[in-house]
Amino acid sequence: MTFSKILYGGDYNPNQWPQEVWREDMRIFKEAAINSATINVFSWAKIQPAEEEYNFQELDEIVDLLSKENYQIVLATSTAALPAWMFKKYPEVGRRDFNGRLHRFGQRHNACPHRLVYQKFASRLVAKLAERYGKNSHVSCWHINNEYGGECYCEKCEAAFRVWLKERYGTIAALNQAWNLEFWGHTVYAWDEIVTPNGLGDAMSPEKTAFAGLSLDYRRFMSDSLLANYQMERDIIRQYDATTPITTNLMGTYKGLDYFKWAKEMDVVSWDNYPAYDTPWSSIAMKHDLMRGLKKQPFMLMEQTPSQQNWQAYNSLKKPGQMRAQSYQSIAHGADTIQFFQLRRSVGGCEKFHGAVIEHVGHEDTRVFREVAQLGKELAQLPALIGAKNHSEVAIVFDWDNYWSLEYTSGPNVDLKYVAQIQQYYRYFYDRHIPVDLVAVDADFSQYKMVVAPVLYLLKDDVAERLTSYVEQGGHFLTTFMSGIVGASDNVILGGYPGPFRKLCGVWAEEIDALAPEQHNTIAFTDGTLGEAQLLCDLLHLEGAQSYGSYTSNFYAGQAFATKNNYGKGQAFYVGTQLVPQSLDHLLDQMTADLHLTPTIKEATPLEVTQRVTKDQVFTFVMNFTGTTVSLPQTFAGETDALTGNMLNAETPVAPFATYLIISKR
Ligand code: GLA
Ligand code: ZN
Repeated sequence: MTFSKILYGGDYNPNQWPQEVWREDMRIFKEAAINSATINVFSWAKIQPAEEEYNFQELDEIVDLLSKENYQIVLATSTAALPAWMFKKYPEVGRRDFNGRLHRFGQRHNACPHRLVYQKFASRLVAKLAERYGKNSHVSCWHINNEYGGECYCEKCEAAFRVWLKERYGTIAALNQAWNLEFWGHTVYAWDEIVTPNGLGDAMSPEKTAFAGLSLDYRRFMSDSLLANYQMERDIIRQYDATTPITTNLMGTYKGLDYFKWAKEMDVVSWDNYPAYDTPWSSIAMKHDLMRGLKKQPFMLMEQTPSQQNWQAYNSLKKPGQMRAQSYQSIAHGADTIQFFQLRRSVGGCEKFHGAVIEHVGHEDTRVFREVAQLGKELAQLPALIGAKNHSEVAIVFDWDNYWSLEYTSGPNVDLKYVAQIQQYYRYFYDRHIPVDLVAVDADFSQYKMVVAPVLYLLKDDVAERLTSYVEQGGHFLTTFMSGIVGASDNVILGGYPGPFRKLCGVWAEEIDALAPEQHNTIAFTDGTLGEAQLLCDLLHLEGAQSYGSYTSNFYAGQAFATKNNYGKGQAFYVGTQLVPQSLDHLLDQMTADLHLTPTIKEATPLEVTQRVTKDQVFTFVMNFTGTTVSLPQTFAGETDALTGNMLNAETPVAPFATYLIISKR
């Protein structure tokens, strides 16, 4: 799936404005080389003012105008926020929440996925939209719903859950065993004794549960349920429009949905990038790589703010050059579109303080607009890199089942968070300009020199076997504490931690100590370097592995904190604790030393240097996210910056957010 050019535009809600404003919009957008608009995201109530009444007049006018002006339209289906009349007549269409409350009309992303009334009206609406606009050649992408997420615990969902469970387990006995319901005497004897795990049932809080097997299955079920809503719309669109790509906008590491499973149903992944003022740049890069990894394909940056958000605690402005640099960072990691939320700032509602291409002042003489226009012009003349690939020798495993189960654990440490653990390893490679792919547990590992799977707590299917054979055949596998502990239903794999990795890694973790935020353990590497360990500390026995060093404090002083095991033709590394960044760097430097991983730049530099490649060209993006002016890596002296045509010379100072693109032959 590729677009003919980089889509540049974003969410556009002319329906909130009188028509004179639309005409002014068209003029202003052209000034910024905007070539695309995402429309109809939240217009259901307007298109269908009553149960038996549809009115497409305004949407027709919007589509006609954008088509006449030659914009590529990203057409949304509007099914993410229900009209008020639907709640009035069918109050059951709303969701029942974690506390058991049935929601009334309000907010968005508010439909129970299993209510037939929602499915009926959504299907009808989508069919009408697809029939009406599917043949319009300006419609270049379908955008289903919006940011699917949340969960429902109503009676209808409960009934559907029981059916889902019956399919998964077949018998009540198998279910009792899978969830270990003998614990606390929770044994069930009939399918209708199973209740949803919200606050009235087995959940201890939205984050914790008495029965992880149950709660985990409910997450799987909810992810599948919302996915079924997506598939329903997609299949209807396909009846009328055989070719236009179909997507829905995802949210990076959003916990609620198994995005690897979702991506299989999407023609192209799109996502909304809303970092906070203090989000590390490596974390943004990681999310892009995850979104690219979902299909191992370029993706759409469906939303980012041109300047400011409204929904975070502290909504800092993007500094001069920041939006441009962030946009190129997205492209460097695989984005083939740059789209904003939103093109014109709304007058009222909670997003009136959300930045936009056209601000409340109403004209284009603003800092934000000038930056948007500069970027638009640059993108318009960018040489063809659409579809270009990102190559990585390192894979980091990301798995939603694991995300859910790891964070459901009651103990050993409440601060153990999945994404933060992944992020620590990603950051190491990011700092060294070593490209990384984020991959699913069922990925083909053989193409990577190294596979890193931090806190791979839950092992499903044949993951352990496949990782073992990857190492046998010469691969380098790294895993950590809290790995190999439970199977697919969150029951412990008996026989000593880390379960199936015990033999592979040559270690047995007899106990796992938890440290509070104010506590740490000291460590010493075998080369004498001192360091610090936090959060969780495995008490390891070596069963064939070699040690990188030992704890020097606490009653387990002298026991190894990290190891290496030769296995088959490869090696398995085990990190038994959370190390402070400096110690982790020291450890990973040693673990990767013999791998000769290829960085995108050999010279030391604090700049981000990220590459995309085509058959014959290499696109090297150089971005300054350090906050200070730094010197140009001499590797780039004498090269031409393809974004500006300027020559980079040895003395070129690289200002904060400066961004260069160097194109070379492969
Ligand atoms: C999300 C939604 C948009 C808008 C933006 C604001 O990404 O999809 O409709 O609310 O947030 O940041
Ligand atoms: Zn429901």
